[in-house]
Amino acid sequence: MKRGMLTDCLTTVIALAIAAGCGRKKEVEKPAGSEKTAGRQITIGLLMETYDVARWARDEEYFTKRAEELGAKVLRAVANGDQDKQNQQADTFLTQGADVLVVIPRDLKTAARIVKSAHEKNVPVLAYDRLILGCNLDMYITFDNELVGYMQAKGVLEKVPEGNFILLGGASSDNNAALLRRGQMKAIREHEEATGKKINILDDSFLDNWDKEEARRKISNLLTRFKAEGKPVHAIIASNDGTAGGAIAALKAEGLAGAVAVSGQDAELAACRRVVEGTQTVTVYKPVRQLASASAEAAVRLARGELPDEIAAALGVKLHKLNNGTIDVPSIYLSPIAVTKENMRDTVVQDGWHSEEKIYSETAFAE
Ligand code: GAL
Repeated sequence: MKRGMLTDCLTTVIALAIAAGCGRKKEVEKPAGSEKTAGRQITIGLLMETYDVARWARDEEYFTKRAEELGAKVLRAVANGDQDKQNQQADTFLTQGADVLVVIPRDLKTAARIVKSAHEKNVPVLAYDRLILGCNLDMYITFDNELVGYMQAKGVLEKVPEGNFILLGGASSDNNAALLRRGQMKAIREHEEATGKKINILDDSFLDNWDKEEARRKISNLLTRFKAEGKPVHAIIASNDGTAGGAIAALKAEGLAGAVAVSGQDAELAACRRVVEGTQTVTVYKPVRQLASASAEAAVRLARGELPDEIAAALGVKLHKLNNGTIDVPSIYLSPIAVTKENMRDTVVQDGWHSEEKIYSETAFAE
């Protein structure tokens, strides 16, 4: 898929429409969103969770660029993995007059307080990439996380059609980790039914954090245990590239890197290098520019009082409903892309995510 396909073609139309303030009038009463912003600049409060995983700096960069192109001002804060801190940062933005909040939550549940505080001030909230549970969230834009999980398992199953698998889940505080697992299990079940082959799941658990070192320790312990039990590990379905890196480091220590199939997600540079090197089987590329641009546009429109179905129509995408335990959250799912050695150039490189030189350079495998 070409870079920014979703948004680029709509950019001009949307920019003109927003500049003219021509969002249709609200037809139903809703808790947040308002027309109090008519005719003036929108201020967006962007609440980042962390920069620890490489993608997030690019999410922030693309989001800010798009929002500024649309004439909005962006207040930014990073919580460094601390939900209490993020909740305070949200309060600060509300005091500073933010018209809409865009949140990458750390904790799927306690981030709900942000939505409550924002709604008290009639400010809408958009969840970016990760859902917030137990609240009247206004909108959610993400990549189809179940499909990401499906692609991860499928990529591994193509290389290892039967045997002993470890499912290395992501942060238990992130709703995406559960959605990924659902997609992974779907792929495994479908594969078993279609081929009659059996996948033996040796371990199925989640980490506390999306953390490479935590993943390395966990896999290292499991490898020791299964070795003692006489059970060879054939594949590890890791839920992102950082944790895949940890798993592969543990495999390397046992002389098993390259012999065990491993999945990931995010098309991080180190992971792309491992994929071409052969120690990682598959990563999933999520064209972050699309997510960032669509979210910036949706945020501006929410602040202008537009409804999610109007926003989805303006963006030319389908509106889904995803239950968060309190309501069916109007949600937009963008499409991820599975990346292996075979299509690396046609996806990640062609889209400008990483240069060919960086992925394939001779020094690439030094790490
Ligand atoms: C998830 C996200 C992934 C990955 C991970 C670690 O919520 O969907 O793309 O980046 O967090 O930050």
